[in-house]
Amino acid sequence: MASTSLLKSSPVLDKSEWVKGQSIRQPSVSILRCNSSTAAAAAPSALSIRASSYADELVKTAKTVASPGRGILAMDESNATCGKRLASIGLENTEANRQAYRTLLVSAPGLGNYISGAILFEETLYQSTVDGKKIVDVLKEQGIVPGIKVDKGLVPLAGSNDESWCQGLDGLASRSAAYYEQGARFAKWRTVVSIPNEAAWGLARYAAISQDNGLVPIVEPEILLDGEHGIDRTFEVAQKVWAEVFFYLAENNVMFEGILLKPSMVTPGAECPVRATPQQVAEYTLSLLKRRIPPSVPGIMFLSGGQSEVEATLNLNAMNQAPNPWHVSFSYARALQNTCLKTWGGAAENVEAAQQALLTRAKANSLAQLGKYTGEGESDEAKEGMFVKGYVY
Ligand code: 13P
Repeated sequence: MASTSLLKSSPVLDKSEWVKGQSIRQPSVSILRCNSSTAAAAAPSALSIRASSYADELVKTAKTVASPGRGILAMDESNATCGKRLASIGLENTEANRQAYRTLLVSAPGLGNYISGAILFEETLYQSTVDGKKIVDVLKEQGIVPGIKVDKGLVPLAGSNDESWCQGLDGLASRSAAYYEQGARFAKWRTVVSIPNEAAWGLARYAAISQDNGLVPIVEPEILLDGEHGIDRTFEVAQKVWAEVFFYLAENNVMFEGILLKPSMVTPGAECPVRATPQQVAEYTLSLLKRRIPPSVPGIMFLSGGQSEVEATLNLNAMNQAPNPWHVSFSYARALQNTCLKTWGGAAENVEAAQQALLTRAKANSLAQLGKYTGEGESDEAKEGMFVKGYVY
């Protein structure tokens, strides 16, 4: 639920009170080395930071995904969420229908000009297209890096006031190794921020495990749009959340050059009567990023979070009007797929038109990544918001 209200009931704890962090809270490596005797210094310290054997590859993958004029197609809806999408066009939630839709998406001609990475749900990572080609291979041929959603979704947090926590750390190392084997090169873990340090801890453990297995982790603490609060409140909450996230990422020795971030943009709550212009959203969001995100992070790939297709593109464009320390781009699901899905409607004869709809959005966002989107010629449908109260991905 909206962290804006929950933060009040779950204040950020003083660092000395953190229980989770204590298991790896040790003197920093440099202090230890300065104080240690020669003999102790010669022995390899259990505390020294071990770089992932994939370090170079991680940096390369992150840079490829964060390449100019390109962003991520998030098509990692769980089977339950994909079922809702299919129901909206009158289709049954069968594996065959999911396969037909995902085939349409990944085989849109020239998609790789605008899309650098695609996040897949586990089923899709191991799936073939309707013509029997491995989906992973189709993506690679398009020059798109395959990625995988690795979190296991949110469950109610026992004893809490409607709060939730994100599952999936158990067995994550072996799952990640298998996903790498299958062709995935980056991962995504989305948690909805209720209790900031709980969420940040989980994200940091996931990020460390991913890097250890050759996957670039996308770090995604989603701050939901739900609420009547103004943009200043979102800004305040986002600052707290990102401070926590980077504290724990550092504590877990995550290599910042080999991660990607997926933040929500700083906007007013969905039910706030005062709306913000793209310039205001850009100003707030960029000042948040500048205060909290080190320049060593290669890419910031925003989620769309229920904004309309056009709104998400305009906001991204506004953020790219001047050079940024990081590649500022998109990792949209709804804001790339909505018109495409409706155009398809499950009919084979609409596949080409649906692919064109996807390419239109992908190209618009590619231009926005370069700060060159004008917003001309957009349909009314693309301007319609997609906010759903209490949305669960
Ligand atoms: P939206 O762009 O629809 O908010 O997608 C969020 C997401 O995390 C998909 O991977």
